Amino acid sequence: MAETFWDNVFAKHDYHYGTEPNEWIRSGFLEYVLAGDGAPREVLVTELAAGEGRNAVWLAEQGCVVTAVDLSATGLEKARALAAQRGVAVQMVKRDVLGQPTDHPAAHVVVSTFFHVDPQRKRQLFHAHQALTRSGGFVIAEWFHPDQRAGGYSSGGPHDAAMLITPEEVRNAFAGSGWEILVCRRRERDLNEGAGHHGEAVVTQFIGRAG
Ligand SMILES: C[S@@+](CC[C@H](N)C(=O)[O-])C[C@H]1O[C@@H](n2cnc3c(N)ncnc32)[C@H](O)[C@@H]1O
Repeated sequence: MAETFWDNVFAKHDYHYGTEPNEWIRSGFLEYVLAGDGAPREVLVTELAAGEGRNAVWLAEQGCVVTAVDLSATGLEKARALAAQRGVAVQMVKRDVLGQPTDHPAAHVVVSTFFHVDPQRKRQLFHAHQALTRSGGFVIAEWFHPDQRAGGYSSGGPHDAAMLITPEEVRNAFAGSGWEILVCRRRERDLNEGAGHHGEAVVTQFIGRAG
């Protein structure tokens, strides 16, 4: 089960994906949310599948009000410790993001990094991002692209290529539902995110804005 799997990963390692934010989240947030038109004074952020909290803590350091959601209690415990060490508050919620609808307030920004699920749950994955974003808000996300497996890259990601995500899948999920697609692309880039993600990788990067 995913919960036990991730509890074991996070129990074994020092911060498995490091303690610094994912570069796509960092640059996307600064460029599209903070530097954009009409940034709210108090930015509400929800991170889906937040793991050990590296993005959530950085976003709280930028002054955002952050909720970190994950099904791994061990991950959230480490996220809580990281937030305390860095002197910021992050609300931690242990929950299956693809499960029951949530009563979290809709966020200005929903972020996720490398949140991969079984192929039959991909619709729910995209829907969860959309459902939690308020009108005018942003989704910023990064996934491994199937070429990560096809190209034999060893920098991270699930072994099952069907769990990986193409820009076309994201575009199809967001198109036609009032979303403006700002960035949706395949990229090759270097990852330097703890022991878990290290080296050359092929990723899908997305930024969308809710209508
Ligand atoms: C590859 S890790 C990425 C963690 C974090 N996003 C990062 O990049 O550092 C995947 C995360 O997804 C979480 N996860 C997987 N399925 C989930 C679900 N249905 N609901 C909530 N969290 C989930 C796992 O517990 C794990 O923390």
